[in-house]
Amino acid sequence: MVHIAPKHLAHALALLSFLSSANATRNSDLVRVLGPQGVNLWKLRAETTKASKFNLEGTENAQSVLFKTDFRPRWYWVNDRHYNASVGGPVIVIDGGETSGEDRLPFLDTGIAEILAKATGGVGVVLEHRYYGASIPVDNFTTDSLRWLDNEQSAADSANFMANVKFDGIEEDLTAPNTPWIYYGGSYAGARAAHMRILYPELVYGAIASSAVTHAALSNWEYMEVIRLAADPKCSSHLENSIKTIDQILDHRIFVGRLKALFGLKDLEHDEDFVALLESPLGSWQSKVWDPTVGDKTFDKFCEALNGHANVAIAELPFNHTSRMVTVAEGFRVDFAIVNYAKWIKQHIVSECPSDKTVEQAFPPGKHFTVPSLPNVTAVNALGDFDLAADRLAFIDGAVDPWRPDTPHSDYAKDREDTILRPFKLIPGAVHHWDEYGLENILEEPHEILKIHGEMIGFVQDWLKDWKAPSKV
Ligand SMILES: *[C@@H]1O[C@H](CO)[C@@H](O)[C@H](O)[C@H]1NC(C)=O
Ligand SMILES: *[C@@H]1O[C@H](CO)[C@@H](O)[C@H](O)[C@H]1NC(C)=O
Ligand SMILES: *[C@@H]1O[C@H](CO)[C@@H](O)[C@H](O)[C@H]1NC(C)=O
Ligand SMILES: *[C@@H]1O[C@H](CO)[C@@H](O)[C@H](O)[C@H]1NC(C)=O
Repeated sequence: MVHIAPKHLAHALALLSFLSSANATRNSDLVRVLGPQGVNLWKLRAETTKASKFNLEGTENAQSVLFKTDFRPRWYWVNDRHYNASVGGPVIVIDGGETSGEDRLPFLDTGIAEILAKATGGVGVVLEHRYYGASIPVDNFTTDSLRWLDNEQSAADSANFMANVKFDGIEEDLTAPNTPWIYYGGSYAGARAAHMRILYPELVYGAIASSAVTHAALSNWEYMEVIRLAADPKCSSHLENSIKTIDQILDHRIFVGRLKALFGLKDLEHDEDFVALLESPLGSWQSKVWDPTVGDKTFDKFCEALNGHANVAIAELPFNHTSRMVTVAEGFRVDFAIVNYAKWIKQHIVSECPSDKTVEQAFPPGKHFTVPSLPNVTAVNALGDFDLAADRLAFIDGAVDPWRPDTPHSDYAKDREDTILRPFKLIPGAVHHWDEYGLENILEEPHEILKIHGEMIGFVQDWLKDWKAPSKV
């Protein structure tokens, strides 16, 4: 905790009222003086930035409209094209999660916020997360400066926003709890959506937690297991056999140097670092999306590279067959899949490695804050973990999402019923928060996506039927 001398506090308060157009530097001076409890991002941002009207007229996509209209930094974006004051529609807010709000604009334009706003006469909003995009309340990212980046603080940001926002061009009071707010998030933001419903039930009327990682864990082999079972069988067996072989080489210690050199990593000392790099292509599985215009094709390209052999007949032979073996060094022969694997890692991963510092070197202990040696998963799991549940809180997951084992759809979680009040839906064949993406004409969406969107519209409309404004006191 920072101790605030009264004279500093007074100084800070004077600054606060004085600076009508404070810039980011002055604001973070304030942050410093006030200490952790003084970081009220709502107030900071209200000083520096103005609400941005997200004009969606015409045929341009969201991004180009954004850049044309205004260059001021933004931290929330509004889609009011379907807003109808006489139906008293909800506010559908998309939690921006761990990236800039701009990256979430497609979800406001044709994705889930647009779909739900259209169905309810509501307003769609993307809300940026602190420390991302234009919502950075500090001057730099030193260890000390990062001490206000935590779950509690960012949840409070959302609550402040919901309770205070005044949208440009909309007369009515749309703040919570006077207006029903539906809080949507995917992935990390999905967990935040679930947590918001638990932590701020009076503000969050309903929440949709998509691919919500409500279970925090320090190890997560289950992530890879989902991919192993779901990937193209040929690719999956090449991966499995390659890793089995590599494990044996590492165990026996003969040719370890040759093996690492094959991957372009001859100087990498620790085996753990080496095998961690071998995992990296699997990280691209979660970026697959049903919409080919946004989905990432890296995983499929990796599989193609892994499986590739000039001679199709040889490629069909079982792993380790003599004809498949490639001589890497005198007495060291490996299956061609390992050679392909090595080439991919060398070209796509090693070549990208910055000669940078480790986390411990980059974030040495500060004056006010030290990075904990391990994250406190207990604190996160205390909010409900696999059992997290509430009325008007929906969980939507993808059957082949590598994060599914960390959601209420995990095999470790208790089974639940899917009800209107507590929707619990698994999209067959889907990966990571696939319901967040949408097409301008939703009838052109693949069957499973159209189906989930229909169900989401249905339960949100049902929730809204039960809405009663709180009685004013
Ligand atoms: C707004 O909603 C009212 C009530 O349902 C309806 O009569 C009206 O046509 C709607 N306005 C627009 C512009 O859609
Ligand atoms: C980072 O920012 C803080 C406060 O804004 C400042 O006191 C500190 O000197 C900065 N550190 C570096 C390394 O720039
Ligand atoms: C392939 O052959 C190597 C060397 O004989 C052996 O260590 C490895 O276990 C074999 N791989 C598989 C998947 O059987
Ligand atoms: C982790 O969080 C829990 C619950 O908030 C708390 O009781 C515990 O002391 C924390 N553990 C550490 C190591 O900080």
